[in-house]
Amino acid sequence: MSAVKKIAILTSGGDSQGMNAAVRAVVRSGLFYGLEVYGIQRGYQGLLNNDIFSMDIRSVGDIIQRGGTILQSARCLEFKTPEGQAKGAQILRDRGIDGLVVIGGDGSYQGAEKLSKLGIKTMGLPGTIDNDISFTDYTIGFDTAVGIVVDAVNKLRDTMSSHERASVVEVMGRHSGDIALHAGLAAGAETILVPEVPFDLNEVADRMRQNFDTGKRHSIVIVAEGVGKGEEVVEAIKKRQPSLEPRATVLGHIQRGGSPTPFDRNLASRLGDFAVRSLIAGESNKACGMIGGEMVLTDIEKVVATKKQFNMELYELASRLSQ
Ligand code: ADP
Ligand code: F6P
Repeated sequence: MSAVKKIAILTSGGDSQGMNAAVRAVVRSGLFYGLEVYGIQRGYQGLLNNDIFSMDIRSVGDIIQRGGTILQSARCLEFKTPEGQAKGAQILRDRGIDGLVVIGGDGSYQGAEKLSKLGIKTMGLPGTIDNDISFTDYTIGFDTAVGIVVDAVNKLRDTMSSHERASVVEVMGRHSGDIALHAGLAAGAETILVPEVPFDLNEVADRMRQNFDTGKRHSIVIVAEGVGKGEEVVEAIKKRQPSLEPRATVLGHIQRGGSPTPFDRNLASRLGDFAVRSLIAGESNKACGMIGGEMVLTDIEKVVATKKQFNMELYELASRLSQ
């Protein structure tokens, strides 16, 4: 006996590659288990606008490979108010919808938590490239964003080698250094600057000079945006070691587009199906995650209150290998 009969899904906050795969999994698993499934366009704003529509098997055809989200996303200040939350819960009740899957970051999770306290069974899926959500090894979109950065660094390495220059690459991640760390390790970057680890730019510049003097033909610095602007790092290096001729590249929103990697597609598919089965089993106000390859549920309050642990072991490995 299912605890829910009609469920809805929305995507919220910064979009990420793989959100469509998650939407597809929620719709197809929901229909497989005999539920009615509804889409909500443009996140919580769409909920408050009652922009809710029935979805069928074909609604999610040919989207697993597409970046972005067919349900679009939006910021919605009204939903941060108790009145807005109560209005959203009432709209869902009026439509007979008793379960909601929210794909987004911890801000979106807080919205789901508020709805659960108003009687709507909710599930959160970690949809953000930042990988800054606790109680999951990876967030949906992170692997794809890292791959985009690595591809860009590979291209930069060619031209930097031709001119024996330093390249400073600014990447996204909001306050997290995970994109910078994982991309830096995979790209063999000489320097990775993240908010989680203190550094001295003069020491960075001097080491880069020494590396060039011992035969290195390029030097890549990856800067997480939570540290600062790539241009600021360029100016500091130029001031200390002008001969390095550093150049800045800001990757920006290109990290949020493109087709999701197989990893993100499969992570999203597993999490979407897990969210549906958890709602059917009567779970609510939970964040879905994958830890050690296993699907896990964690109270949303606990996830929102817990800062994601930075992987210092991986950071030290990257440092050892980038001499
Ligand atoms: P993310 O989910 O990526 O962290 P935001 O922080 O922008 O993105 O949140 C997305 C949306 O979630 C907001 O526009 C708002 O509608 C809703 N939201 C964010 N924080 C809260 C909150 N504390 N209570 C209720 N709703 C919230
Ligand atoms: O949270 C995802 C993210 O891409 C961050 O890495 C980045 O700082 C932010 O969103 C950019 O927000 P917006 O798309 O609203 O400019």
